[in-house]
Amino acid sequence: MRKKLLLGVNIDHVATLRQARKESFPDVVEAAKACERAGADQITVHLREDRRHVQDKDVFSLRKVLKKKLNLEMACYKEIIRIARKVKPDQATLVPEKRQEVTTEGGLDIIKNLDTVTRTVEKLNQKGITVSLFIDPEFDQIEMAVRTGAQYIEIHTGSYANARGEKSREIELRKCIDAAAFANALGMGVNAGHGIDYENIKGILRMPYLHELNIGFSLVAKALFTGLEKAVRLMVQKMKYYKE
Ligand code: PXP
Repeated sequence: MRKKLLLGVNIDHVATLRQARKESFPDVVEAAKACERAGADQITVHLREDRRHVQDKDVFSLRKVLKKKLNLEMACYKEIIRIARKVKPDQATLVPEKRQEVTTEGGLDIIKNLDTVTRTVEKLNQKGITVSLFIDPEFDQIEMAVRTGAQYIEIHTGSYANARGEKSREIELRKCIDAAAFANALGMGVNAGHGIDYENIKGILRMPYLHELNIGFSLVAKALFTGLEKAVRLMVQKMKYYKE
């Protein structure tokens, strides 16, 4: 079946550049508008507890001006949940967070944190916010994800993206493919993200039942040379032939 695979562009990296000088530019909202013009279906931002890149005011401004969907990445922290309930993004993607990490390192451990994750899903759903859980491609985590009441999982594709050598890439990709099929069979919507670039996306498109991809680093890096709109268009073009 042919179904449009949606592109969420993660623009945290634009905010990282701005925060490097604590300037007012590059403007996150302008970046989001450029992504929308170029065909992005969603803008994704991660409001971290340490506020190292995206700031509260960015999230509120994006909510006001975006024509497409806003996906707020967040950890299950009280203060961030409070902000999310105020902002009411279309979707919240729950991720684990460690202060020392360079980027989100692994998926949520729902087996260990079932109560916390379930309570967070409830609080967000109450405000009409769809919830997606960022997890490693593991069956037992997917089974737990179902128990939280969340609507989607986002399969962490980082192990596939970082795998070196054809054989280990194929092994890691196979885990993502099987996880997507398993989640779909259990009634969960399936998203994917982390480490996806213009080359390895070929493998990602072999995953069944995909609803959306969230892509940040490779796209913003490409934008340095092509401009943001062209970088988004190139990715949209690559995603065009997805067959569920
Ligand atoms: N999805 C989630 C849940 C993430 O935490 C990130 C990184 O912020 C991404 C997608 C995008 O990853 P990348 O920047 O490697 O494309």
